[in-house]
Amino acid sequence: MSWKIQSKNIDFEKLLIEESLFFNGNGYIGIRGNLEEGLPEHVETIRGTYINGYHDIVNIPYGEKLFGFPETQQKLVNIMDTQGIEIWVGSDQEKEKVSLYTGEVLSYNRILHMDKGLTERILHWRSRQGHELIIKFTRLVSFHIQELFYQFVTLTPISNPIPVQIVSTMNGDVKNYANRNDPRVASDDKKHIKINQLLQCEDYSFIELETCRSGLRSAALSTMKLSNPYAKYRYEMKKSAIVSTVDFQLSAETFLDKRTFIAESTRYEELRKELVAIKKESASLNYHEIAIQQKSYMNSFWNDTDVIIQGDEQIQEAIRFNLYHLLQSAGQDGKTSIAAKGLSGEGYEGHYFWDTEIYLLPMFTLTNPALARKLLLYRYTILNSARERAKEMGHKKGALYPWRTITGKECSSYFPAGTAQYHISADIAYSYVYYFLATNDMEFLKEAGAEVLLETARLWIEVGHFKEDQFRIDTVTGPDEYTAIVNNNYYTNVMAKYNLQWAYDISLKLQIEEPIFWKRLKEKLSFTEGELESFKQAAERMYLPYDENRQINPQDDTFLQKEIWDFEGTPAEHYPLLLHYHPLTIYRYQVCKQADTVLAHFLVEDEASEAVIKNSYEYYEKITTHDSSLSSCVFSMMGARVGYVEKAYNYFIETARLDLDNIQGNTKDGLHMANLGGTWLAIVAGFAGLRLKKNGICLRPQLPKAWKGYKFPLQYQGRSLFVHHNQDHFTIELLTGEPVTISIWNKNYPVTKDKPISLPSASNGGINV
Ligand code: BGC
Repeated sequence: MSWKIQSKNIDFEKLLIEESLFFNGNGYIGIRGNLEEGLPEHVETIRGTYINGYHDIVNIPYGEKLFGFPETQQKLVNIMDTQGIEIWVGSDQEKEKVSLYTGEVLSYNRILHMDKGLTERILHWRSRQGHELIIKFTRLVSFHIQELFYQFVTLTPISNPIPVQIVSTMNGDVKNYANRNDPRVASDDKKHIKINQLLQCEDYSFIELETCRSGLRSAALSTMKLSNPYAKYRYEMKKSAIVSTVDFQLSAETFLDKRTFIAESTRYEELRKELVAIKKESASLNYHEIAIQQKSYMNSFWNDTDVIIQGDEQIQEAIRFNLYHLLQSAGQDGKTSIAAKGLSGEGYEGHYFWDTEIYLLPMFTLTNPALARKLLLYRYTILNSARERAKEMGHKKGALYPWRTITGKECSSYFPAGTAQYHISADIAYSYVYYFLATNDMEFLKEAGAEVLLETARLWIEVGHFKEDQFRIDTVTGPDEYTAIVNNNYYTNVMAKYNLQWAYDISLKLQIEEPIFWKRLKEKLSFTEGELESFKQAAERMYLPYDENRQINPQDDTFLQKEIWDFEGTPAEHYPLLLHYHPLTIYRYQVCKQADTVLAHFLVEDEASEAVIKNSYEYYEKITTHDSSLSSCVFSMMGARVGYVEKAYNYFIETARLDLDNIQGNTKDGLHMANLGGTWLAIVAGFAGLRLKKNGICLRPQLPKAWKGYKFPLQYQGRSLFVHHNQDHFTIELLTGEPVTISIWNKNYPVTKDKPISLPSASNGGINV
């Protein structure tokens, strides 16, 4: 089964997209898949190296700035470019640079090895003078040595011998990418970084940079070694780069080993000293040992995460691709999260959104809870900023999480589709509850979860109000960014209700089970019994809009009164609408950018009847453009939920290959992380129908016609489970841990190590229970 993504023919149009598709990362560092040798000047490229959370601060320019608008925002910074490796062949007078644009490319292949955690680019090339050689560039960002970006080049001569010169660069003269016409990427192209130090020591080159305003330092230390003992090295210090050159005769297979260690000043104090030490520690490891370490990390990741699709190789490849890139982008240190484009590009400027909590955390929580805990912890580290923001927004208490951020401060300058999305606070609370349901981790609840739940619940009491026996929430924006500033957005209200209910339940649990901790927490937060009662009241009396006529949940109080968007009169090239219509034009119509109420029905399904969920699905499907990549996966999952398995499958196909096939047209700016997680959800929560509830795991398995089967592992409260659905059977095995009962199509089945659950598949794709 496929473990490789390959790009066998050079498609010059696709090179820019491949920079995202072939990026290397480990949650700390991300390096775009740029070509080592560079590109001719006229060819567009986004050459990028990023550290998760490493940012500068920039002013937000406003024509009219009102109270509470953020003055500045954080911006992920593109740091020094250490990818450069040029290979020149021929004698001094006739030297030619190996390039895809000159000479003759006899064969080419670029491979992402998802099982090994590395990429390769193999080029069989002949110069105009007839020098012929095969070059293999292997690169990885290590999961074992967090700071290491490793390039390993194999040169094999075909014509013999070839004079070769290799030029390796570390370049500090870098900028971020900008595009004034696309709100999804930065519009200013100013420099955010200056060079503090360039240094060439005996066996390494070193660059230290500093961001212009946030004052954060970053550094790279690089070594280069050729397997040929007679090679001659030269180093040249330029104004903003260090160039290392090595000359030799290529007469047998030769290897170049280039290691770059990268770090920044929030996690490392004395950058040079610490990087020198890390370099020394790993000096004894050769290429094979580093590759083996990487492979062993990947083995354990796949063991816990791999989803197998039987009977569709292309989809199999796509799912692994998606899971692999999620891993490469996930902050693992408790101080960072997963940006909307991960570490693969600069779209959305490296900001973290609700994407992590709603689209990505389910996968990590149920496959790698330790990593999920780290991602959750990040939100705890910015809880104080969320408290401050709540105050700034006129609330006496509670935590309002920023719509988009790196350090915790709001970065959104367009509040109707930014700060107004208050639901993010409930989304974060939801992800803590989800983790608790999946792990029963009381320690983490005490460490972070309880506080987040109480502070976010407080926000709803502040922002909402009781009116005629109902609790209502006015003037917010739901997930659908084509509808803004509304009263009683169904999604927001139902998620706030869940948040309030859980804050109440957890408080009672702590009161009984952890009275000392509870007392201390109450004191810390100056939390009163009256507040606890208000949570209960607000949850019980939460107003959830319902339309009697259509028997659906309206998206908000006025949504259904608006005219329906003229879909027939909208030319295909006018999508996404946000790039072609003023927001007010869009807001006046019933048109959704993405799943909103339908997503609410997924997250909190017990609040609506089967019929209402289905009616709503049908209603919103007709008016949703899926202009956001966060949408199709939800329509896939919920399509399966309401019994449209084949429709679900069609949506699923769109999500599965969204980046591989550049379906949204902007994969060059980075991979769509939420969608990558959405693919996993579409299988596990869609076709297998998994929900986590207080009484445990509930499933509603269905098998799309196109597949022979699907399989996936799960971690649940200290157990390893393995789910397999094929045309004959639906089975769940308990691999480790205590027996447990699982609900399948609303019937309970026990599973023990000796006795898996095994139910016969039905001819309609479901199962016979
Ligand atoms: C979506 C948001 C999402 C953001 C970042 C926007 O296009 O509408 O829901 O959080 O992208 O992925």
